[in-house]
Amino acid sequence: MHEIIDQLDEKRRRAALGGGQKRIDSQHAKGKLTARERIDLLLDDGSFEEWDMFKEHRCVDFGMDQSHIPGDGVVIGYGTINGRMVFVYSQDFTVFGGALSETHAEKICKVMDHAMKVGAPVIGLNDSGGARIQEGVAALGGYADVFQRNVMASGVIPQISLIMGPCAGGAVYSPAITDFIFMVKDTSYMFVTGPEVVKTVTHEDVTAEELGGALTHTTKSGVADLAFDHDVQALMMLRRFFDFLPLNNREKPPVKPTKDPADRLDHSLDTLVPDNPNKPYDIKELIQKMVDDTEFFELQPNYAKNIVIGFARMEGQTVGIVANQPMVLAGCLDIKSAIKAGRFVRFCDAFNIPIITLVDVPGFMPGTSQEYSGIIKHGAKLLYAYAECTVPKVTLITRKAYGGAYDVMASKHLRGDVNFAWPSAEIAVMGPKGAVEIIFRDEKGDPVKVAEREAEYKAKFANPFVAGARGFIDDVIMPNETRKRVCRSLAMLRGKTIQNPWRKHGNIPL
Ligand code: HXC
Repeated sequence: MHEIIDQLDEKRRRAALGGGQKRIDSQHAKGKLTARERIDLLLDDGSFEEWDMFKEHRCVDFGMDQSHIPGDGVVIGYGTINGRMVFVYSQDFTVFGGALSETHAEKICKVMDHAMKVGAPVIGLNDSGGARIQEGVAALGGYADVFQRNVMASGVIPQISLIMGPCAGGAVYSPAITDFIFMVKDTSYMFVTGPEVVKTVTHEDVTAEELGGALTHTTKSGVADLAFDHDVQALMMLRRFFDFLPLNNREKPPVKPTKDPADRLDHSLDTLVPDNPNKPYDIKELIQKMVDDTEFFELQPNYAKNIVIGFARMEGQTVGIVANQPMVLAGCLDIKSAIKAGRFVRFCDAFNIPIITLVDVPGFMPGTSQEYSGIIKHGAKLLYAYAECTVPKVTLITRKAYGGAYDVMASKHLRGDVNFAWPSAEIAVMGPKGAVEIIFRDEKGDPVKVAEREAEYKAKFANPFVAGARGFIDDVIMPNETRKRVCRSLAMLRGKTIQNPWRKHGNIPL
């Protein structure tokens, strides 16, 4: 018995060392933590239960039969974050560069299967050279087994990927299917093919960082939601982020008690919207002043900045916020912003998170660039997402709600539950200038007449009352009482249940 216990201790010690001290030192020298150090920081102290520590690969080719490292390059198990269950896998770059073998994939699949059985999120800490080259198709099959589970888990349990090292080839497609991707600056990158292949095929000279670093994916491609300075910051922020989410699609997110009164008035909001309709203002100021304790967890802050998305709480309950940002492109909707917000709306809908939509939108972005790139189809994604969404929807028009964009942004017609407007709201097919140019084209040469017509159009439509008269706006509220009125609406909607008709699945314009 003693001998077995000694053996167990020795086996555990060996497994914990992964690819050995030299490789651990090299990992640290790159500014990266090891797989186990990362799990320790992510989970509550002492909560981690590890599985398959002794699992080894079965490959015999290319000398692999001589090289067995217990754990096979990935640490898996479950634990808690602030007391709530989560399943984790963390790839160990010190073992064959974290490369994915058949058995490595089996370990990831094991945590995913358990997470689905008990209804708890999965967090993947990715740090891997991709498919284990020595294994060939067995490794490729392993990836596909993971992808299949990612898809089955989508909309059932939250899935979060933290990219903390290389993530290349097919390896990027598992994170791509997950709900959120966070990256670490300078040490992580994601691409389908690396710089060498790019050079051969397209003759482009590009570094790994330029091609798929954290800045690229949080500013240019929109693949990643956030970039952090180092491993520790990323893991700490992930803990904070986790608290906004429910464990699965049958539960509601946890409630975080707050001392911020639901009926708090904020008179500074009465002057937020400038008198000049063409002058911008920062919609984030409204978000911060409206939500509990000014705490707003923004996602994709540096991508498609003309729309703002993220989580906050109202009376302790998680809400998703979608807001046009007049500071960027006047807040208009374009392809990137429609996709960014559309996916976020669908996440909120899948996981019982009410949505607050703040509207100041002059319309869809015109031009050949947008049309040739398919704004019709991509803009429809956001429309589709809002229309199929059944969670509580509270909408506030602060200023412009023009044209199709009025319809799209959680209007009454797309089953908005409570639709408010500030007195500064203008709800019309388009702005007065554009409208007069079209309907009074004959008077174009007469500036006095044009000014008169514009004033007439403005008086008729540049206000919330025409929409109010039709019941498209439930009430015109003072900006200072926004938090109070939105909190009340959300409280009233807490018991909301509506169902879409049965179907296998809809056909969102992908
Ligand atoms: C087996 C691998 C490996 C891999 C790295 N290693 N990648 N072993 N399979 N895919 C091993 C190395 O041999 C080395 O072993 C150790 O991991 C560390 O690698 P280094 O190259 O020394 O590290 P570094 O300089 O930091 O470079 C990391 C790297 C590079 C950029 C990831 O290793 C690399 O380019 N690897 C190959 C990437 C790749 O092409 N993967 C296949 C993608 S295709 P020792 O023993 O020396 O420590 C793919 C298809 C999936 O994934 C499709 C699914 C649909």
